[in-house]
Amino acid sequence: MYRPITETPVDESTPATHARGNPHHNESVNDNDSLWYKDAIIYQLHVKSYRDSNADGFGDFRGLLEKLDYIEQLGANTVWLLPFYPSPLRDDGYDISAYEEINPTYGSIDDFRALLEAAHDRHIRVITELVINHTSDQHPWFQRARRAPKDSPERNWYVWSDDPNKYAGTRIIFTDTEKSNWSWDPEAQQFYWHRFFSHQPDLNFDNPEVVEAVKNVMRFWLRMGVDGLRLDAIPYLIERDGTNCENLPETHQVLKDLRAALDAEFPNRIFLAEANQWPSDVRQYFGHSDECHMAFHFPVMPRMYMAIRKEDRTPVVDIMRQTPEIPEDCQWAIFLRNHDELTLEMVTDEERDYMYREYARDPRMRINVGIRRRLNPLMDGGRRQVELMNALLMSMPGTPIIYYGDEIGMGDNIYLGDRNGVRTPMQWSADRNAGFSEADTAALFSPLIVDPPYGYHTVNVGAQERVPTSLLRWMRRLINVRQEYKAFGRGTWEPVDAANRRVLVFIRRYRDELILCVNNLSRFAQYVELDLHALRGMVPLELWSKNCFPGIGDLPYLLTLGPHNFLWFRLMPPEQAKSYQRST
Ligand code: BGC
Repeated sequence: MYRPITETPVDESTPATHARGNPHHNESVNDNDSLWYKDAIIYQLHVKSYRDSNADGFGDFRGLLEKLDYIEQLGANTVWLLPFYPSPLRDDGYDISAYEEINPTYGSIDDFRALLEAAHDRHIRVITELVINHTSDQHPWFQRARRAPKDSPERNWYVWSDDPNKYAGTRIIFTDTEKSNWSWDPEAQQFYWHRFFSHQPDLNFDNPEVVEAVKNVMRFWLRMGVDGLRLDAIPYLIERDGTNCENLPETHQVLKDLRAALDAEFPNRIFLAEANQWPSDVRQYFGHSDECHMAFHFPVMPRMYMAIRKEDRTPVVDIMRQTPEIPEDCQWAIFLRNHDELTLEMVTDEERDYMYREYARDPRMRINVGIRRRLNPLMDGGRRQVELMNALLMSMPGTPIIYYGDEIGMGDNIYLGDRNGVRTPMQWSADRNAGFSEADTAALFSPLIVDPPYGYHTVNVGAQERVPTSLLRWMRRLINVRQEYKAFGRGTWEPVDAANRRVLVFIRRYRDELILCVNNLSRFAQYVELDLHALRGMVPLELWSKNCFPGIGDLPYLLTLGPHNFLWFRLMPPEQAKSYQRST
């Protein structure tokens, strides 16, 4: 991933690939492109929170369908849907009680099919969740297992023990609610294993019947047409004595098996690994291109927050230096926030203390090992800071994921339980219930965000559509600029050293595309001198304005940036740069 700057001869015969100001970049999506996920902009949402079409207080598939135009206009070409299966909803749907059905509150299988079709008509792909580490304790498989005799094939679908000290080296993930990874089942008269809530027993992946059953679930949704599966909590599939029960070779073997089943029947569909681990461990989830196509880069996420608050690029540069190369056809997924807490598992103790101190002074903002707040409040509502964070999201290596509502700067509600404060209804307008639902306000699945400064009366899509300077309209432009250049999705990432540590500089390079990204992490104006002599003769074309900056010579290249400013340049030979320059 990390490569020093070298001189690249620019291939001037390559036809211009840019599509200046093309608002319909989704049309350029090639449905047969096996690397489509590298050029994706993923928009993550919960059907329940997005739009309610039948006034019952819960969002549903028909509501989401109404809003596909909005998602398309934003520039997202992939939607990631949080779990929508039948569930007691004690873990917001990650506690699944039937894998091949839809929670009736959200609609029917036909509604889901209609959504898929409508999304595909717009060249929007759909990623769904494959939650296989565990089920709900209400799942018929678990009910059958606990009632079946000890050591019977049916019991063997889950992980049981008579001794709750087994696998003692395994950490607890939900530290606020769970004291042990074992819980006693009075019916079975044994303890069952669970890495998350005690109502979520872990499936036993040492049992080939379980692996086969999971493959069938996978096939069910892929046959319907979903384009990708997020593999939830994938490091924990297998347990072994004397280990921490994470990232075990046997777990990777299961993944290879699932991947072979995917490739055998479903070309161009992908796996996205949720492996909240250090980069060298996550690297294993790509295998030799025979496990997952994509994996979240968990450790870089908190470090972007650290860098902007410390006004120092070191945290980001350090973690990127520790990030190994990944196979050519694999891809990182980059995110700022999601439906969970901003996890602080992949930082040092000192860094965690720093993050809590800076971003979660109120204990209510904390949960488990993380912070349950949204991007805009984390940035104290600072527009420049929010823009810079989004610019990093769009320019760091990998595919960016936008969490619904962050594109309009939605706030959170730290008085709600669990992680529900970042899962509130989407704010469409200043109308009743934020335009989310026509139900009685008391019937909504969650309170709306009402208080200033993030309440829906001011922060909503309708208002931001009307104002050219709004965050929403700026986000559309940002995505549009990014999508003009393949280097952002496919290129290498090369840090550029500069004396001023408050400025994070890197080059993204793909074939003849060379993009220089300069980010001022400081709240004050900064200048930076860049040693770009290896690129002498090139002209930086600023990507938003299409203005040519002075050519690169032998002397250090000087740039000045206002507070939290960022600049993106394409570096081109002078004649080429001029042909792209905006005529003013
Ligand atoms: C999901 C969480 C969920 C957990 C347990 C995670 O990976 O992102 O929202 O609580 O799995 O199901």
